[in-house]
This record gives sequence, structure tokens and C-alpha cells, in this order.
Amino acid sequence: MNRSDEIISEYHHARIFVVEDDIFILPLLEQMLANYGFSVFPFTNGAEALEAVQQEIPDLILLDITMPGMDGYQVCERLKQNPDLKDIPVIFMSAMNSMEDKIKGFKVGGVDYITKPFHPEEVHVRVNTHLNLSALRNKLKYQKLVEMKVREVSEAQQATIFALAKLAEQRDDDTGAHLERVREYCCLLAQQLAKDSSYADHISEAFIDCIKHASPLHDIGKVAIPDSILMKPGKLTFEEFEIMKTHSIIGAENLQTVFNKYADNPFIGMGIEIALYHHERWDGAGYPDGLIGRNIPLSARIMAVADFYDALRSNRCYRKGFDHDKVKEMLLEEDGTHFDPEVIKAFLALEEQFSLIMKTQE
Ligand SMILES: [Fe+2]
Repeated sequence: MNRSDEIISEYHHARIFVVEDDIFILPLLEQMLANYGFSVFPFTNGAEALEAVQQEIPDLILLDITMPGMDGYQVCERLKQNPDLKDIPVIFMSAMNSMEDKIKGFKVGGVDYITKPFHPEEVHVRVNTHLNLSALRNKLKYQKLVEMKVREVSEAQQATIFALAKLAEQRDDDTGAHLERVREYCCLLAQQLAKDSSYADHISEAFIDCIKHASPLHDIGKVAIPDSILMKPGKLTFEEFEIMKTHSIIGAENLQTVFNKYADNPFIGMGIEIALYHHERWDGAGYPDGLIGRNIPLSARIMAVADFYDALRSNRCYRKGFDHDKVKEMLLEEDGTHFDPEVIKAFLALEEQFSLIMKTQE
């Protein structure tokens, strides 16, 4: 079977309306198309065809132009005015052979023009070509619809994730905008690392998109920390700090439960990494696992810098936020001990933007 046969066989049983007032040509066309396997619906005038199209939408219409009453152009115009019918391909058939007639046919929305007398094979090939094009158009339309739906669902998911994280944050954040800022810092750092660092080859657009949506989840485990510890104005005792530290594991465990159900959600996957490891240190002295250097997921190493900067710049009930230069100095002091040197390098390239983001929210 060659390619054209495949296409032809694909459209067997396609429904074709044939509108033709010539009582000799109409049965001829009907028989010929039926022989090719199409389901044919014959009409001797436009009004009947327009009425029938309300009941059953055909895959294609073969439309005579010169007919008593409504002519083919008018029938086509009526079809094109209806959003449900405008995409039906219309092929005009006519003995009128002038360029003006053909142009008018295309202007009113026809997709092709067959001049009478026609050869059956020519009608067959043209019908198949337009069924094929129409099927491709419909497929594309369907794909776009699916894409739109997927985007809607994923945006709704992201909004839900953010809302949950925001709810968790409200207990201990004075300003209420920590998550938004941290998200911006993480995105900026990831973009900078993608431009200029030894990680450039590992940071894709998808990674940047992922960290944008996953970063607000970093402290979600704090929902399980008692108020007396989370909102304590002074320094935590050793025991209290041990409890506070569990927020990373609690957050990751809860996200893991969600991830087990929705394993194809990359935001939750990265959210687990960030929640679990954002308090790890480059030198291995962090928690919960004491991971060292590049064993700590990159997303969490980025988060560590973003979180540190924002936390130290922000006011707390027990202290005022530090200025940019002071926090920069503190970050540099911990370059290579607490923080990944590559991420610190990226921070230095972006420091003005960091400072500006904090300023606009003061
Ligand atoms: Fe944390």
C-alpha cells in the first residue's frame, strides 16, 4: 500500500454532503463517492443542505454554484457565519470557468474549485486532500486545547502549592513577603549560574522554572513546630533548636507523601530536595544529613544563599534586619564553609538586584 492509498483508506466512511441540482450529475457523484467508501448525503438545493447540516455535520461538502434559489456562494457564506460549521471544508463544483468565479469561490470560504466536466479520479483526490488537511487542522486544534488544559492544571497546582506554603509561613513571618522574595532570588541565582558557572550545562529552563515553584516549599515543615519555639523572641535552647531542626525532615516527608501520588510533578520532587537540604552546609556541618559540597542538591545550595540573605535582611521581633552590605559581608565570611562558592559568585554578580528586591518591599 503506498502513501496515497493509506491516506485514501483513512477517510473511508467520511461523511460527504453533495449539493447539486443537476439530476444526472448528482446520482453519478453519489455512486462514485460511495464506491470509494464515503458516506454520501445528496441534496438538490442549498436550503435542504443547510437544514440537514444542523442535524449532522459532514466532514466535507461538494457544492454546486449555479442552483435555483440560493446559489452555492450564498450557501457557503451561510455556513461560514456559523462558528460550529465554518470549519467544514467546502469544494465548489461549477461549469463556470472564469478566474473571477474561482476567486469568488475562495473569497466566500471555499477550499477548492472543481471545473465541470470533471474526472472521477480528480474529485476523489481533491476530496481526500481536503479531508486530510481538515483532519490535520482538527488535530492541531485539539492539541492546542490539550496544551491549554495542561497549562491551566499546572498553574492551578502551582497556585495551590504556593497557597499552602504561604499558609505555613504566616505563623512566623513578620513581613509576609519572604516567600515571594526568596522565589525571586532563587530564580535569579539559577539564571546567573546557567550563564556563568561550572554548573551551566546542568541548569536548564526546566530547572529554573522548577526552582521558581519549588522554592516556596522550603520551610513547609514549620507547620509542625510548636508556637513556643517557632515564635520565641529570644535565642533557642539546645533542645528547642533540635526540635526546630526537624522542620526540614517533616517538610520533606510530607511532600514525599504527595510525591508518591503525583510522581510526575517535578515541582514537588525539587520541593523535597529543597525542604530536606536547605540547612545543609558546604563543609558538611549542616543538618539533617551533614552532606558535603556537591552531594547537597544544587537547588538546596541555591536556596541556602537566598534564604540566608532574606532572613538576615528582614526584621524580626527580636532584632532589626541588617543592611545589604552587612549581609553581603556575612555571606562572604561563609563562602566555602557554609555556602557553595559558585553560588556566592552568582550572588555577587546579582547583589544590586538582590538589594533592589528587598528595597521595593520595605
Ligand atoms: Fe528552614
